[in-house]
Amino acid sequence: MFRRYHEPFLGGGALFFELTRTQRLDRPSYLSDGNRNLIDVYVAIREQVDAVIDLLAKHKKCHSEKYFYAVRADVPQDLVERAARIIYLNKTCFNGLYRENRKGHFNAPFGRYTNPRICDEQNLRAVAAALKPTHLLGEQFDVVGQQAQRGDLIYFDPPYLPISITADFTSYSRTKFGLEEHRRLAELSLSLANRGVHVIVSNSSSRWTYELYADFFIYEVFANRLVNSKAGLRGKIPEALITSFPVDLPAAVTPRRQGVWALVDSREKGGFNRMLARQWLRQNGYGDVASLIDEVIEEWKSQGKSTRRNWWGVLAGDINGNSRIVAGRKFPVLRAAQLRQGVDVTKNALCKNPMEEVPSVRVTRRWSSSETTKAEH
Ligand SMILES: C[S@@+](CC[C@H](N)C(=O)[O-])C[C@H]1O[C@@H](n2cnc3c(N)ncnc32)[C@H](O)[C@@H]1O
Repeated sequence: MFRRYHEPFLGGGALFFELTRTQRLDRPSYLSDGNRNLIDVYVAIREQVDAVIDLLAKHKKCHSEKYFYAVRADVPQDLVERAARIIYLNKTCFNGLYRENRKGHFNAPFGRYTNPRICDEQNLRAVAAALKPTHLLGEQFDVVGQQAQRGDLIYFDPPYLPISITADFTSYSRTKFGLEEHRRLAELSLSLANRGVHVIVSNSSSRWTYELYADFFIYEVFANRLVNSKAGLRGKIPEALITSFPVDLPAAVTPRRQGVWALVDSREKGGFNRMLARQWLRQNGYGDVASLIDEVIEEWKSQGKSTRRNWWGVLAGDINGNSRIVAGRKFPVLRAAQLRQGVDVTKNALCKNPMEEVPSVRVTRRWSSSETTKAEH
């Protein structure tokens, strides 16, 4: 169990509302988001839900394409009017996306829905009740993250790292949450975990995630993503669930309902579902290394020796990152193996394809002790 709950990238607050619904919060929570407009909406609902409902009923009555653009063009001063405006635009805009331009102006176009749910009174009242005992703050994650104390639970759900990092992503112009912010978040997560805070982070299942969170437990999970401009990209995609504590995942949980994490156990086949080293090597262009392993195994077999060996450990190199010699053969040091083992990537490490995925489920390491991988072949 945990003491207080913190969610610094609140967005739609899926986890907070789920924890409230299932009555797992018994103290006031700390909710925040870097987007102050979004936090103002929550504050208005919490403080003046009746007034928000009245204004939404008015928007509903007047709803048309022309009215949508008129509302979009005019940002009122009053907190409740601003909140109702954002909810109205969000419910009626294209794809239900909350999108702002660089000046912070809502700029999603009109969406053609036959009967948009502009005023969902019951839901708004439930949201107001859930928010009553919370602290709401429009602040950056690193400011609020510091408030968490030993025994608290903090959940970070930042804008995700792309699967492959391009110059576009790191250049800042395209996104406000770049590699630098992800590094700061990983550092903050580690310092909180070291202070005894329970930390959960979600991110894309990319090799950068594995590198940034090498000291954490990482589980590959499947989450339902509903917002994507390309219909084919909505639905289940693997993501990384990063935790500072081991999680006993249920055997294989299929998605239960929208917005809730659907965990698919990566250990479902009994023991960790580690991808066999040679299989990964062959699939990723390192067939020569796989053949070298074949050779050694055949030799050991013919000598009646055990053929079990931690090949990922071999390919990660020794403690200084130098090649290891096994059965008289020199094995190259692979970047993917080092990432998988959670050790520092050394300059000599071979990487044939910068887009290659880190081999699945890897050593889970905690800062104080380390588990060893079981041998695999
Ligand atoms: C992936 S969304 C969170 C989704 C949320 N968990 C949900 O259930 O809808 C990321 C959120 O982070 C916020 N954000 C982006 N940069 C931030 C920063 N530097 N500090 C705090 N929040 C930030 C965005 O406004 C957005 O609401």
